[in-house]
This record gives sequence, C-alpha cells and structure tokens, in this order.
Amino acid sequence: MTADSYLTQISPVKPFLEVLSGRRQPVPPIWMMRQAGRYLPEYRELRAKAGGFLDLCFTPEYAAEVTLQPIRRFNFDAAIIFSDILVIPYALGRTVRFEAGEGPRLDPLDTPDKVATLAAHADFTKLEPVYEALRRVRRELDPKIALIGFCGAPWTVATYMVAGQGTPDQAPARMMAYRHPDAFAAIIDVLVENSIQYLLGQLKAGADVLQIFDTWAGVLPPREFERWSIDPTRRIVAGVRAKVPDAKIIGFPRGAGAMLPAYVGATGVDGVSIDWATEPSLIREKIQTRVAVQGNLDPLVLIAGGAALDRAIDDVLSNYASGRLIFNLGHGIQPETPIAHVEQMLKRVRAYKG
Ligand code: CP3
Repeated sequence: MTADSYLTQISPVKPFLEVLSGRRQPVPPIWMMRQAGRYLPEYRELRAKAGGFLDLCFTPEYAAEVTLQPIRRFNFDAAIIFSDILVIPYALGRTVRFEAGEGPRLDPLDTPDKVATLAAHADFTKLEPVYEALRRVRRELDPKIALIGFCGAPWTVATYMVAGQGTPDQAPARMMAYRHPDAFAAIIDVLVENSIQYLLGQLKAGADVLQIFDTWAGVLPPREFERWSIDPTRRIVAGVRAKVPDAKIIGFPRGAGAMLPAYVGATGVDGVSIDWATEPSLIREKIQTRVAVQGNLDPLVLIAGGAALDRAIDDVLSNYASGRLIFNLGHGIQPETPIAHVEQMLKRVRAYKG
C-alpha cells in the first residue's frame, strides 16, 4: 500500500456525509433508493441463484455482492445495504414471505388479541447475516463512498404487519389505529425499541448513515401523522443518539407534504428524503435551511428518459443544488427502468457546475 492510499484509508472525505454534516458539495452526491434490484441483470441472476428473496437478504455473501453491484456499475456516492424493512417482523417471529410478483405476505396482526401475543424482543441472531453483509461491504467499499443502513419507520412496518400485505392506502392499519389505539400503540412500541437496537447493530457493523423509510406516512391525517409517524421516528432517533450521539440519520416520510416542517422539527433527523410531488419553495425555505435535502426525481421520468428526463433533472438541480442536496429519486427505482437512463442521469448530475 502506498503512503497515499494509506492516507485515503485513514482520512476519507465522504461527500455524502459532508452534506449531512452541514457542508454543501459543489456537485451533489448521488445514489438511488432501491438501487440494487430488478432493473439490473446481474441482480436478477443472483436473485435466481439465491432462491427466495429472504435467502438473498440473509446470505451475507449474496447480500454484500448485490449491495456492491450498483456501485461497480455507476460509482454512486453511497451504497445501501441490501435487505428489507420486513426483516424486523421476521425477527419478531412473524411469518414473512415474498411471493413472486405479489409483494410481501405476513400473518395479519389485526386484532387486540393477536397483538397481545406479539413478542417484545426480536431474535437478533436472525439479523446477524445483515450485520455480516455490512462488514463485508465495508471492507470492499471505496472509503469515499458512504454505507447506509436502514429500517422501516414503525408506522410503515406496522401497516404491513396489520394487513398482512401491502394495500393501496393501508386502510387496515389506519382503521386499527382508530378502533384500537392501545393495541396499535403496542405494535408501534415494540417496533420502536427493536428498530433502535437494529440500527445500533448496523452502525456497529460499519454503517455510516441510517435511513428510516416511512413509505406510507402520506396516508395519515395530521393528528395521526404526529402520533404514528413523527413521534415513533423521534423516539428512534433519540434512542440511537443516546448511544451514538453523532449518528447521521435521514428520514423519508413519503407524501408528508406540508407536514414536512413539523417532521423535521420534531424528529431531529439530519436529512430528509422528499418525494417528487412536494412543492419546492416550501422545501427550500422551511426544510433546506435546517437539514440536508435528498431527492426528488420522479422514478417514472427515469423510465421515460430523453428530453423529459433532462428537464426533470435540471428542475431538481435548479430547485435545490444551491443548498445542501443529495441527488436521489423521490421513491425507489422501478424494475423496467433502462440502465442507459440511469447513466444519462449520472452524467448530467455530475456535470453540474454550481
Ligand atoms: O434500496 C436498496 O437497494 C436496498 C434494498 C431495499 C429493498 N427494500 C429491497 C427489495 C430497501 C431499502 C427496501 C425498503 C422497503 N421494503 C420499503 C421502503 C421503501 C420503499 O420502496 O417504499 C418497503 C415498503 C418494503 C417492503 C417491500 N419489499 C415491498 C412492498 C416489496 C414488494 C414490492 C417490490 O418492489 O417488489 C418488497 C420486495 C423487495 N425489497 C424487492 C427488493 C429488491 C424486490 C424483491 C425481488 O427481487 O423479487
């Protein structure tokens, strides 16, 4: 090892972490939610070899490889560990299956009687493969690239646990929260405590940053949003920081819209990932003045490509790149996205002169 590369090893500047630490970068760091996945042929190949989706998540060699695939291809500024938000219900002893083409299936936790049987503590030995995958990725990753660990926000994880599957507007969980708030709060409390432990485990295994995915935050009315999205997320952030005071955390309350300032103010996140529908001046004036902004290209325009894609990229840059920006999509990349369009996006973002 040369003296030079040794220096890089001990003092790597990660542009992604710089932005979260308050220092805008001239070229915004970039990664994509769901960047490891079915739009990549190398993912589909390994997925077929692994058998089931959870086998892929829980085989450290495979999970590490899949995490690194988009980095090798695109040299993103961050890698996100390959796993799923539903590994927490799995470690709590719930049945979790991923049916091909159908999405997740769980045993529904839809009555107070069933909630009374929910385990308080996850079996963290079941999550050891995720930690091992993080350690492997950490060893192989260029020190300039950040490694992201994650969990689902309690509200979003609970929506799948209650319904036993995804639904268009997560009505079963919303209904349970109205009809049986105490039982629903018991699910949320279990998820808060176990998510804190899980995130701390991921930091210990080598994650630089944590992201909390609240994909279904936007279906809640404001009062419920405060109670079921903001408050549990605030408790997770506080619980992680009680042990790791400088932990960097990004929240993704998809669909929060005008509730974003309340979310940012109360949760204490360092960055917020925003969907494509949010009004830009609200983000610039009420969010970007306080935390880093991550987002927010519409995943559909990445499928469309061409001039529409260029225009949408330029919109994100002109809206947010004069402040602290991590370029990303407003939600996960979709399987039908052409790889050439991802390359077009990277080229344009990295050519940004701001
Ligand atoms: O971003 C990454 O590359 C890391 C991996 C990652 C996955 N899921 C892999 C995955 C992450 C961060 C998630 C988070 C996740 N999982 C969320 C929150 C973010 C979001 O996209 O809304 C949610 C709601 C889930 C639950 C989940 N997992 C659903 C609803 C589905 C089925 C829908 C789908 O996209 O297939 C999954 C399966 C899943 N998780 C896949 C991948 C790559 C596809 C599984 C396959 O290969 O067959």
